[in-house]
Amino acid sequence: MKLWGGRFEKSTNVMVDDFNSSIRFDQRLYKQDITGSIAHVSMLAKQSIISTKDADIIKKGLEELLLDIENNKIEFDIEAEDIHMNIEKLLIDKVGVVGKKLHTGRSRNDQVALDMRMYLKEEIQEIKLMIIKLLKTLLTISKDNLDTIMPGYTHLQKAQPITFAHHLMAYFEMFKRDIDRLDDTYKRMNYLPLGAGALATTTYPLDREYVANVLDFDGVCLNSIDAVSDRDYCVELLNTISILMMHLSRFCEEIILWCSNEFQFIELDDAYSTGSSIMPQKKNPDIAELVRGKTGRVYGSHISLLTTMKSLPLAYNKDMQEDKEVTFDAIDTVKMCLPIFTNMLKTIKVNSINMYKGASGGFTNATDAADYLVKKGIPFRDAHEIIGKLVIYCINNNKNLEGMSLEEYKAVSTVFDTDIYDAISLETCVNKRNVIGGPSKEMMSKVIAINEDYITNL
Ligand code: ARG
Repeated sequence: MKLWGGRFEKSTNVMVDDFNSSIRFDQRLYKQDITGSIAHVSMLAKQSIISTKDADIIKKGLEELLLDIENNKIEFDIEAEDIHMNIEKLLIDKVGVVGKKLHTGRSRNDQVALDMRMYLKEEIQEIKLMIIKLLKTLLTISKDNLDTIMPGYTHLQKAQPITFAHHLMAYFEMFKRDIDRLDDTYKRMNYLPLGAGALATTTYPLDREYVANVLDFDGVCLNSIDAVSDRDYCVELLNTISILMMHLSRFCEEIILWCSNEFQFIELDDAYSTGSSIMPQKKNPDIAELVRGKTGRVYGSHISLLTTMKSLPLAYNKDMQEDKEVTFDAIDTVKMCLPIFTNMLKTIKVNSINMYKGASGGFTNATDAADYLVKKGIPFRDAHEIIGKLVIYCINNNKNLEGMSLEEYKAVSTVFDTDIYDAISLETCVNKRNVIGGPSKEMMSKVIAINEDYITNL
């Protein structure tokens, strides 16, 4: 017998039961559903909508039910459709007719919105903690690599020398923004939808502020139609997670490049690499590749929900049940990726010699050579031209800028002097970039200190 069976003369087709039911995936909301129901029932008693005695019986029944579920004593029923009706039915089985009073002044439409918001609030905190661990790892590796010179790239062409710390701390900033976006998403979802009823509230004198307070919400949703038809909080979270995955994916792509034979900038720990079933020499960066690959799946969830929500008339529509699987899958995916990625990163071996070699080739100090001429009074455009010519000369003679003799320099411009060698050494190139945000050891140490404070104050 269905909880809503009163108006029906026939039972539901089995295929319909199966198709309609969400218990398979929304059962993970059991804790939120029960906690929300306990708050609701306390409020009903406080407002004398039901008696305190009845409320106490219901609360006790719900608490027992929570334990039963946690101890795997419960089997959910597809016929009861979703987690909300399963819990209600189980409660009635447990405490008898009094249990039928739980759903007073409430609809599954406001109930499901409440459960999801409560669930996502918790998940956001867990994802944040995982990002913080990653940030700490980035700080540790960066502090060890303030002097590790590597080439910086634009267009994946060697551009200017930087340090490994400078490069890693770029990701630190990205993940910081991800935390910010999670906080922001949290802030906007932190309003209580319960009390909206099906769409137009109820005739009972509900105290929504009380429930908001008990369940740790900042306030109540101010429009009941919006409260039950809004899924922005899921879409926003999916967007936030998509961006986070995009960051992880870019990082993975670099890791994959860096441990290739062509780069050899880092080596992955054996525990975080895999072999090939045919090629004995292989050590593959599967973890990085899989994180990169799973990014597509999270984007898919995001686009999927946006598409589901597009053109839905107000207020609740059953289409919105589709919010769950995609949101859960994206959360599960990012929660699987973050810790494994952090551990993989923690265990990399940095090959500073190869990084330095990489920075020495490809004329990464050409800008500094031009700046040298500017400091000697040559306008930058002319300096750029002169160094461009020198680069061609070097390429034709298989040399780099630091390998040219003073005579060779002077043949191009008499302004060159012996101080050119110091001016274009990689160490100078890095440490003269002593602008906040830049790679110099002094500035990087400053930024690292700022970010250590940031983590402590999170
Ligand atoms: N299982 C439903 C969902 O996830 C709960 C709300 C159902 N409301 C309704 N009126 N059918 O969206």
